[in-house]
Amino acid sequence: MTRAADRAINSYFRNDAPESVRKAIEDAEKGDILNPSYPYQERMKRKDYDNQMEALQIELVKMQAWVKETGQRIAIVFEGRDAAGKGGTIKRFRENLNPRGARNVALSKPSDAERSQWYFQRYIQHLPSAGEIVFFDRSWYNRGVVENVFGFCTADQRERFFRQVMPLEIGLVHDGIHLFKFWLNVGRAEQLNRFLARENDPLKQWKLSPIDIAGLGKWDEYTQSISETLTRSHSDLCPWTIIRSDDKKRARLAAIRAVLSNVDYDEKDVEAVGEPDPMICGGPEIWDA
Ligand code: ADP
Ligand code: AMP
Ligand code: MLT
Repeated sequence: MTRAADRAINSYFRNDAPESVRKAIEDAEKGDILNPSYPYQERMKRKDYDNQMEALQIELVKMQAWVKETGQRIAIVFEGRDAAGKGGTIKRFRENLNPRGARNVALSKPSDAERSQWYFQRYIQHLPSAGEIVFFDRSWYNRGVVENVFGFCTADQRERFFRQVMPLEIGLVHDGIHLFKFWLNVGRAEQLNRFLARENDPLKQWKLSPIDIAGLGKWDEYTQSISETLTRSHSDLCPWTIIRSDDKKRARLAAIRAVLSNVDYDEKDVEAVGEPDPMICGGPEIWDA
């Protein structure tokens, strides 16, 4: 991180933080666990996690084989506040997959040419072809949340986005694409914890962006935009799946299970797949700010 960013984050933590943030910082400094409304008192044990993850990795490999053999298309959208764990979850999905056929799409801010196009255009070209699984680390939902919070789009553009997004996704599903939309839900103290960890770890500093820092004081604006987005883009055919992500291990297992349990690939080990933990994974009703 640059010195300027370093100063900004520090001055924010020391001086400018409102009461609610200071409370979250205090909670964060207590070290562990977790959002008060998080359903578990402790993070999952490493050994449990490793065992379950290994079994699920085998299933993901089988699923990819089926996707390739039968020419399926799978698109998985990952959304969530900064530091919710999108990148880390995608990494676990892709860990043992053939990268040819399991692409990651993490677009940066739109170029001038892209800005002049239909909003969805730059995402559409990355949708899967036959045999592909595509992971979107952020997506067209930028217009619902971050672009609104930072004023990167006009109110008109956002309304047009909401009018178009449902028909568009329904079209994808009717065309045969398996579409998953994950919202990773992270609490404020845990988010701060992760920012601080990023700041202090030379290997993670690249993850701490100016948007993250500028977003520190915009928690409530995010909450409002997220709530509206989840409400206006959720349907039976293209539902949001909320993953409570304060504990990264439980979150990753739940997301992988949510996909595997909804895809009918060959030679599925139903017992190994199981069902995602309903305390961790559910519909928009389990989302909380
Ligand atoms: P990430 O969290 O994905 O590493 P950032 O926190 O830097 O990235 O930015 C969050 C999102 O906001 C990204 O998808 C980025 O492309 C988008 N974004 C940043 N600046 C702009 C902008 N000027 N216009 C539209 N989108 C933007
Ligand atoms: P997480 O920290 O769990 O959100 O995971 C994000 C993943 O990105 C981590 O598992 C890291 O191994 C990986 N990662 C961290 N730093 C870097 C880096 N500098 N370059 C590439 N990958 C990284
Ligand atoms: C995440 O960890 O949620 C994202 O992939 C990275 C970020 O939030 O900056």
